[in-house]
Amino acid sequence: MNKDLTVSIVGNGYVGLTTAAVLSNVGYKVYTVDIDKSKIETIKSGKSYFFETGLDNFVKKGINSGNLIPTLSYKEAIPKSDVIFSCVGTPDKDDGSSNLEFIFAAAKESAKYAKDGLIYVQKSTVPVGTGRNVIEAIQEENPNLRFSYVSNPEFLSEGSALFDTLNMDRIVVGSDDKESVEIVVKIFRNANKFAQDIDLDRYKDYAGFYSSKETKSSKTDFEDRIVRTGLESAELVKVSANAFLALKISFANSIAKLADKVGADITEVMNGVGADHRIGRSFLYAGLGWGGGCFPKDVSGLIAIAKEHGLDMPIMTSAIDENSSMINFVTSKVKKHTTPNKNNTVAILGLSFKPGTSDIRRSQSIKLANKLVSMGYSVQACDPKARKEAKKTLDDRVIVFKSLEECVKGVSVVVLATEWKEFLRLDWKVVKDLMEGNVLVDGRNRLDKEKLENMGFRYEGVGR
Ligand code: UGA
Repeated sequence: MNKDLTVSIVGNGYVGLTTAAVLSNVGYKVYTVDIDKSKIETIKSGKSYFFETGLDNFVKKGINSGNLIPTLSYKEAIPKSDVIFSCVGTPDKDDGSSNLEFIFAAAKESAKYAKDGLIYVQKSTVPVGTGRNVIEAIQEENPNLRFSYVSNPEFLSEGSALFDTLNMDRIVVGSDDKESVEIVVKIFRNANKFAQDIDLDRYKDYAGFYSSKETKSSKTDFEDRIVRTGLESAELVKVSANAFLALKISFANSIAKLADKVGADITEVMNGVGADHRIGRSFLYAGLGWGGGCFPKDVSGLIAIAKEHGLDMPIMTSAIDENSSMINFVTSKVKKHTTPNKNNTVAILGLSFKPGTSDIRRSQSIKLANKLVSMGYSVQACDPKARKEAKKTLDDRVIVFKSLEECVKGVSVVVLATEWKEFLRLDWKVVKDLMEGNVLVDGRNRLDKEKLENMGFRYEGVGR
C-alpha cells in the first residue's frame, strides 16, 4: 500500500473526525485541523468530543501512533499536505439556503499555505455549483498555486459513522481532473484493504438500522462501488440522495395516517410495499419523522438552489410539511387518552434525533417534548447519551432524568420518541408497574403491540 501521501482534514465534525481517525489508522499521516480549541484539546487527549460507537478507540490509536495530529494551525498542517479533505459544516440560513461561510474560509486559508500539486477534496455537503466557486476562491487567494479540485460527498450515517467509513457502500468522486480522482480512489482503496482485517461487527450497532436486512455491501468488490462523475453531478448526487430518503420517510408517514383511519397496520403495509425490489424496505419506517444535521438542511437547501434557478420543488416542500405534521399527529395520540394539565405527566424516552448518537440537531423528540409541555402537560425525559446536549434546546420546564426508572415513575403516558436499543430491550412489565397510567405511545413503531396490549398497556403507534 502506498501511504506516502500526507493528508489534512479541515473541520472535525462527524465526517471530519471519523475520516481522520480511520485514515490515520490505515497508516496515513493525518493533520486534523479545526478552529475550535476545546475540540482539538479533546482529540489530542485521545478521544472524540461526541459519542459514536468505536470512534474513541480509533482516535486513541491514531494519536498514540503519531499518525493523527490535531492542530489549530493551518500553517502547521497545510504546507505538508498532498491532499486536503474539507469537512467543515454548512449550516442552513433562515431562508433555507446553505451558509457557505466556513467552506470558503477553509478553502482560502488552505490556499494561503498550500503546496503545488495539492488535491483539494470537498467532503462537506454543498449546493450544486459551489465547487466552481471554491476553485475561483482558491485561485484568487493564491494565483500561482497548481491544484485540482474533487467533489467526494460523504454518505456515512451518524450512529454508524465508523462502520460506514470502514465499509463504504459507494464512493462518489467527481472532478475535471481524472488523475486526482484516481489518487482519491486509491486512498479509499487502501482504507478498504485495511478494513478487511477488522471485525466490523463490533461497530455495527446501528448500521442498516432503517432497512429490514443488511444492505451494506461489505462483500461486493470495492471497484464496483466507485462512481466516477463530473464535478456538478457529484455535488447533486449527495443532496438528491438525502432528499429522496427524506421523501421515502414522509411518504411512509402519509400512508401511516391513512392506515390509522382504515384499520391497516403501516408496518405490514410497508413490509409489502418494500418487498418490491424496485422500491426497497429501507427508509420506509413510519414514525415521528426525520431530523438531524442533514435531511432538514439538505432538503431546504435543495429547494433554495432550485429557486435560484427559477424552479419550484413542491414535492420537497410537501415532504417538509408532512414531516412537521408528525409532531401534532403523535401529540394527538397522547391527547386521545389524557387531558393536557399538570397532573398528567408524559415521559419521553429518547432525545437525540436518532439512536446511537448524542446529536440533537432538529430532533423531532425534542420538538415533541417542547410541544407537550407548552400544551400544559408535565413532561420528563431521558436519553442514554444526549442529556447534556438536549438541555440546550429543550424547554426549561422539561425535567431530564438520568435513570429511566425515575423518568417513568408515576407518569400517565410513556412515549418512545427515539428508538435506542436500551429502550427496545426494556422489560415493559416493570415500566408499567412504575407508571400510574397505562398509555404507551410508540412514536417509532418499534415495539410489539400485541404483547404490550396483553400486558395491559393502551398502545398507540403511528399508523398501527
Ligand atoms: C443521513 C444519510 O442517511 C446519510 O447517508 C448521509 O451521509 C447523512 O445524512 C449526511 O448527509 O451526512 P443521518 O442524518 O446520520 O444520515 O441519519 P439517517 O439514518 O439518515 O436518519 C435521518 C432521520 O430519519 C432520523 O431522524 C431517523 O430517525 C429518521 N428515519 C430514518 C425515519 O424516521 N424512518 C426511516 O425509515 C429512516
